[in-house]
Amino acid sequence: LSARVALNPARVVAPVSRRTFGSFVEHMGRCVYTGIYEPGHPLADEDGFRTDVLALARELGVTMVRYPGGNFVSGYRWEDGVGPVENRPRRRDLAWRSIETNQVGIDEFAKWAEKADVEIMYAVNLGTRGVQEALDVHEYVNHPEGTELSERRRANGVEKPYGIKIWCLGNELDGPWQTGHKTPEEYGLLAASTARALRSAEPDLELVACGSSSSVMPTFGTWESTVLEHAYDVVDYVSCHAYYEEHDGDLGSFLASAVDMDHFVNSIVATADAVGARLKSKKKINLSFDEWNVWYLSRFQNAPLPDEWKVAPRVIEDQYNVADAVVVGNLLISLLRHSDRVTAACQAQLVNVIAPIMTEPGGPAWRQTIFYPFSRTAALAKGDVLEVAVETPTYETAKYGVADVVDAVATHDPATGDVVLFAVNRDQEQPVELAVDLSGFGAGLTVAEAWTLTDDDVRAANTMDDPERVTLRPITEVSVDGDAATVVLPRISWSVVRLT
Ligand code: AHR
Repeated sequence: LSARVALNPARVVAPVSRRTFGSFVEHMGRCVYTGIYEPGHPLADEDGFRTDVLALARELGVTMVRYPGGNFVSGYRWEDGVGPVENRPRRRDLAWRSIETNQVGIDEFAKWAEKADVEIMYAVNLGTRGVQEALDVHEYVNHPEGTELSERRRANGVEKPYGIKIWCLGNELDGPWQTGHKTPEEYGLLAASTARALRSAEPDLELVACGSSSSVMPTFGTWESTVLEHAYDVVDYVSCHAYYEEHDGDLGSFLASAVDMDHFVNSIVATADAVGARLKSKKKINLSFDEWNVWYLSRFQNAPLPDEWKVAPRVIEDQYNVADAVVVGNLLISLLRHSDRVTAACQAQLVNVIAPIMTEPGGPAWRQTIFYPFSRTAALAKGDVLEVAVETPTYETAKYGVADVVDAVATHDPATGDVVLFAVNRDQEQPVELAVDLSGFGAGLTVAEAWTLTDDDVRAANTMDDPERVTLRPITEVSVDGDAATVVLPRISWSVVRLT
């Protein structure tokens, strides 16, 4: 098979937003406890954080981390997690039917975030709580001093405010599973009044209103429209959440999951802009794709939550294979291509729970297959995202109709001159020879590095016993001749080529 693409530095979509490479730490399963935090582990530091996980989070290239949930946040009392650890209450977490010990709260997480060198995206509870509690946690974390809650933070040993800039106004309140689920009308009013109150405390916060939990929600589109009718002037983002999995062995549709992500983004941009037009507003609402990943959700939905209330139970510890990594790489291509409107995104989640990093309590940490496309994209996507239109063969999918075999995006960094092409080949049988027209850059580019994630066995995965079964491989069939490059994309693969 063959395909063609032309890259041109003048055809810029938008700058790469570093926040595209966000992740998510929820108090759920073993993400926090025995994930990022495990005092007593041989590799734990003085604060109880696993240094092996910290090193992997840095290698992954994560820039921002959403915290503390997720469904968890809709029943969370933030104040349970501050002050002397021995006085913190144990509580039921209704979302995941487990026990929260509150050994980690915002002060511990902020310490971890500093060590990991990531920005915090903080989610407030608008499920069981409201405007006052959002203001309270804001006062605790961001108010400098001289008030009850800022002084409480200082008494707890944190003199300077954290200066958290980006805040989620609740989580998935469109979902009937959410504690405190709301109608769009109820949520729109609450989001708007919470946003107004937070802005009175700190005008330049960046605020994210909850959008749809997936594109198959019955209220998809109408939810965003109603919520934004109420909150347009006082929020900056609307959130999107999407998880993908292979259904009934339909690998072809699964490999084309990014078609749904493209559709999701285009639909919500159109919806937000339509509200803006009705309100005669010049302002644009951006998208925060703050939960996305491959998740074998139907397996989870078919298995009941455990009867017993446990601390840090093993919940949704999906093991990822090669096909999953190709889809994750493709979802990043989709996010990058929409960088003009998707300026924040979080892969859900970071450790153990549907995660690129896995750990064993007391034991090792390792990289899942999906770690690789994320880490390479975060490291190499710099400068501007370029418009990319691939001339590609197509194939028929049961779920999305006709889909492209090759999907790609490219970035160009004017500071270094680097041109980076990210591409997937969704064909299940054959490689694709991709011809890249670089005439827009003139001659002189050479291949600096080229990697692919592929395997004869698309079901191959990394495990504790075989943690490096799947890794990146160098691409050998890549060359530049004058202003034209050629790269061979193996069947079912995600690849990246950096030219300099
Ligand atoms: O990431 C797992 C869960 O998925 C989150 O808690 C929730 O927001 C979503 O439904």
